[in-house]
Amino acid sequence: CGIVGYIGGQQAAPVLTEGLGRLEHRGYDSAGVAVLGSRLQVTKRAGRVRDLVEALPKRLAGKVGIGHTRWATHGPATDVNAHPHTDASGTVAVVHNGIVDNAAALRERLADAGVELASDTDTEVFAHLVAASSADTLEGKVVEALAQVEGTYGLAVVHADFPDRIVVARNGSPLIIGVGEKEMYLASDLAALVRHTTTVAHLDDGELATITAGGFTTFRQDLTRTATEAHEVDVDPSAYEYGELAGEPRMYTEILEQPSSVERTLRGRLDERFGTAHLGGLNLEPRELRAIRRVKILGCGSAYYVGQMGASLVEELARIPADAEAASEFRYRNPIIEPDTLYVAVSQSGETIDTLLAVEEIKRKGGRVIGLVNVVGSAIARACDGGIYLHAGPEIAVASTKALTTMYVGFALLALQLGRVRDLSIADGKRLIAGLQRLPAQIEEILKDEDRLEEVAGALAQAESMFFIGRVRGFPVAREGAQKLKEISYRHAEAYQTSELKHGPLALISPEVPTVAIVPDDELTDRNVAALHEISARRGPLVVVTHPEVDLGDLEAARVDVPKNEVELDPILLTIPLQLIAFHAAKVLGHDVDKPRNLAKSVTVE
Ligand code: G6P
Repeated sequence: CGIVGYIGGQQAAPVLTEGLGRLEHRGYDSAGVAVLGSRLQVTKRAGRVRDLVEALPKRLAGKVGIGHTRWATHGPATDVNAHPHTDASGTVAVVHNGIVDNAAALRERLADAGVELASDTDTEVFAHLVAASSADTLEGKVVEALAQVEGTYGLAVVHADFPDRIVVARNGSPLIIGVGEKEMYLASDLAALVRHTTTVAHLDDGELATITAGGFTTFRQDLTRTATEAHEVDVDPSAYEYGELAGEPRMYTEILEQPSSVERTLRGRLDERFGTAHLGGLNLEPRELRAIRRVKILGCGSAYYVGQMGASLVEELARIPADAEAASEFRYRNPIIEPDTLYVAVSQSGETIDTLLAVEEIKRKGGRVIGLVNVVGSAIARACDGGIYLHAGPEIAVASTKALTTMYVGFALLALQLGRVRDLSIADGKRLIAGLQRLPAQIEEILKDEDRLEEVAGALAQAESMFFIGRVRGFPVAREGAQKLKEISYRHAEAYQTSELKHGPLALISPEVPTVAIVPDDELTDRNVAALHEISARRGPLVVVTHPEVDLGDLEAARVDVPKNEVELDPILLTIPLQLIAFHAAKVLGHDVDKPRNLAKSVTVE
């Protein structure tokens, strides 16, 4: 979900709706604003921000306001369940990201006290609790309400009796204050602020703030002051704009940006003379690097799949046992945390709560965690002991593309550095560096093949169900390819190890169920091609993503060729055509590519 707020000399409504438009990737099933002028006015709608804008009253005057764009947790996406939520008298309005864990108990208690709850949400209780507080300041009321709430939150409150302020609180969901000239902004994501200001203050967990037109003060739940200050963030506001490709889906522009985002990840980190990488941000001495006995990678969604690709890289280049696990599962199986294991948290946003909680669990048990994170200063980046910033630039489309390629490059750099303090030779180090340097031009080459990929996508989009298959290094590529296709085209796509197909799913192969096979030119090519014949013999249509060097013989298949790099680096290049296939499949089916149904870019609830 996304939160915005404004207080200052301008009319709040247009500032709020513009900000919500920039946060829509965080949740887009409903949206709303509360504007405080001579009275408090709330407008909210199920649907997109544009539906909200249409529903706004013509005269909506007020220079203070808060807004929200929602990804439903409690209760379906309806007008009533949209935020802001108010108390019965309409004096208090609240927007909230996160989950109130004891909402059921609080709802019951309020109902017993005669309060009529309008919505199915966990957030609404908070508005009633603030309204019921007898404290004589808004800060006091919010603190009193929070004392009854268990859970996670980033929230903002306005109150008709305190029209000169917005009170905000953070516990687990990001909140950033933007400082302007006699006006202040507030958002859950930098994307909504940079157009107005790059002077910002990040609230910490457990912190609250009072925001007035003239400034802000921060404090704890016991109302004692904290020292959080605003600082300049080093971002390029233009990176948040659409640029030349205005009108194209953001996912498309992000796919096309990959040659330059990969270049940014590599910049200043390659040591050609010694065939190694320099990763200053790891905060690890060579002695500590050598002491690592195991690498455990944690992430969610695409970040988890790229973690699997990263584990292969670490094992191959550094010969250290490595594996990846879904961060969402990890902390619930009471994981064994070992002092000589290097834990790696992977996250584009740096906010995914499942990944953040895994990091905290590791740290609680004395483990060492580094982050592969895109968003500078994000919660996961701050919670880690060190890390590698990806420098992919802002990624807005829900389906991750350019962040994912830079994550892979980040793993290659890490594996190279770990390898070079062990057995990896200088010659191999130099070979991989040359390979990494070739990536941007090779990605460019793959992108030029778009017409062919569009054609392949058009055929796949007709199928209700399909397989993506690969082996060893190719298997996470298949998983990521299937994920991308299903999340934006809503076609069923299942990833399988090519070798395992014959142990079950081959039963499903038919002319109606196509297979996308990842067949790199490597030591497994012959085995892969043999498996494709087994599919073809059952009249299963085939798309083969492969290298020009691979001879498919008389196999009947739509072939997609990808330029060859070093065998360890090939997986990332094999991923790129799958992005364009997913994109064009979704487009031809007429879906909103950037905002697939039911999903959100950053999932800040468990
Ligand atoms: C959400 C997004 C996915 C993303 C995952 C992890 O589920 O829809 O596209 O891969 O979160 O996000 P992160 O920001 O941690 O990389």
